[in-house]
Amino acid sequence: MTDLRIEVVDDVVALGRAAADHVSGFLAGREASTVVPATGETPLGLYAELASRQGAGELYPTGVTIVQLDEYLGVAPEDRRSLFGWMHRTVLGPLGIADDGVLRLPVDGDAAACAIFDRTLDDRGGIDLAILGLGDNGHLGFNEPASNVASPTRVVELTSTTIEANARYWGSTDDVPTRAVTLGLGPLLRARTIVLLVAGERKRGIVHRALEGPVGEDVPASFLREAGAEVTVIVDRAAWGAS
Ligand code: GLP
Repeated sequence: MTDLRIEVVDDVVALGRAAADHVSGFLAGREASTVVPATGETPLGLYAELASRQGAGELYPTGVTIVQLDEYLGVAPEDRRSLFGWMHRTVLGPLGIADDGVLRLPVDGDAAACAIFDRTLDDRGGIDLAILGLGDNGHLGFNEPASNVASPTRVVELTSTTIEANARYWGSTDDVPTRAVTLGLGPLLRARTIVLLVAGERKRGIVHRALEGPVGEDVPASFLREAGAEVTVIVDRAAWGAS
């Protein structure tokens, strides 16, 4: 049974701080950990706060191995839309983590390479901490509806909802690739600790569906309620509502 806690905070600034407390607490005293950091806008405050705590000598992350969560299919690191590039700018660079230590998704989506990725992750003991955002349609990474709970790392077709949501990062829907590679729900939900960050009014409907509606493939994030992990959902008031 999942140990799931929901923490409602005032706003997106408080969300970054609360998430940083959580992640710092997790990393403290660990000699090695395997961490999945989502891209997207919601965790940006968390990463900036971690970098600032590290700069102030309050955080000494040691032995952190980063695992990539998702990437647009065929988009090279030099491309402005590269999610690896986004991770480099917001997580790796600010925290002084070398790019070459990252377990990266096969950007060409080759099925054998995806299977090797999952095996390598397993051989390394899986994920200790996954930091996730919530897609407008309830996706985790790019595990779109309807993703099987045990789905492996693979190529996916992006839904129109996701293409529209991602257009705000890159300009217009025409700039958003239509396919992606995602860490599968199978390996993701085997993480030992998961932090889901949710902010903004437009996530209100989907966060309540994910946490209170039926568990199933239509809303992949609902599977968090059946994961074996310790799950913490940190959600701001705009997303959660007044209740
Ligand atoms: C994107 C990404 C996810 C991200 C989610 C939420 O499409 N594939 O990894 O967590 O959607 O993004 P945001 O935090 O910008 O709302």
